Amino acid sequence: MNELRPDYPVRTERLLLRPLATDDVDALLAYRSRPEVCRYVPFEPMDRDLIADRLAGPWARTELTEEGQSLTLGAVLADTGRLIGDVVLFWHSSHHRGGEIGYVFNPDFAGRGYATEAASAVLRLGFEDLGLHRIVARLDERNEASARVARRLGLRQEARLVDNEIFKGEWSTELQFAMLADEWARK
Ligand SMILES: CC(C)(COP(=O)(O)OP(=O)(O)OC[C@H]1O[C@@H](n2cnc3c(N)ncnc32)[C@H](O)[C@@H]1OP(=O)(O)O)[C@@H](O)C(=O)NCCC(=O)NCCS
Repeated sequence: MNELRPDYPVRTERLLLRPLATDDVDALLAYRSRPEVCRYVPFEPMDRDLIADRLAGPWARTELTEEGQSLTLGAVLADTGRLIGDVVLFWHSSHHRGGEIGYVFNPDFAGRGYATEAASAVLRLGFEDLGLHRIVARLDERNEASARVARRLGLRQEARLVDNEIFKGEWSTELQFAMLADEWARK
């Protein structure tokens, strides 16, 4: 397998993806503090201190050099420089060449395809640069917007795990989506 050392910024049609920086706190707080954004993700609404801790810790990573690491990138509007969301690539296994994607966007910029565009760039990094064989997305079935993103990306739904976990005090039915490298190459 390769390692992942992207040339930043990673460009898409309308976005730039780049590592997060300490002065992104306000832009991140603008959506990561909102309860509706956190409803189906494994974190609670964040405050400024927690975001600053993350920026100094796991979000400071700019490359993937070994399994178990994750790379979180900010999605910035190319024409204004405004940070509108973030995407993550988890490298789960070097032997199995497995990874996972995630995405969190500011609702003020929803419904314009930005999350799909950013996540597609992350799939490209995972398959073409890191050399992953399989990338998954896991989500709560009630998170319909996220399932639409997964389908729009071309991921296949492989599983529906009924009442799989107690998530924020309620049973959560989990949908698992996946794409293989050869499916990505044929897209
Ligand atoms: C999941 C999440 C990123 C989806 O956001 P979103 O705005 O629906 O997704 P996109 O930015 O890709 O926009 C897609 C929508 O824009 C529309 N759209 C408009 N212009 C578009 C374009 N140029 N290209 C693609 N889609 C476009 C699509 O039709 C789609 O609408 P639909 O879902 O009603 O069919 C967002 O709801 C979110 O951040 N949720 C909170 C965090 C979360 O739950 N993350 C996922 C955890 S598993």
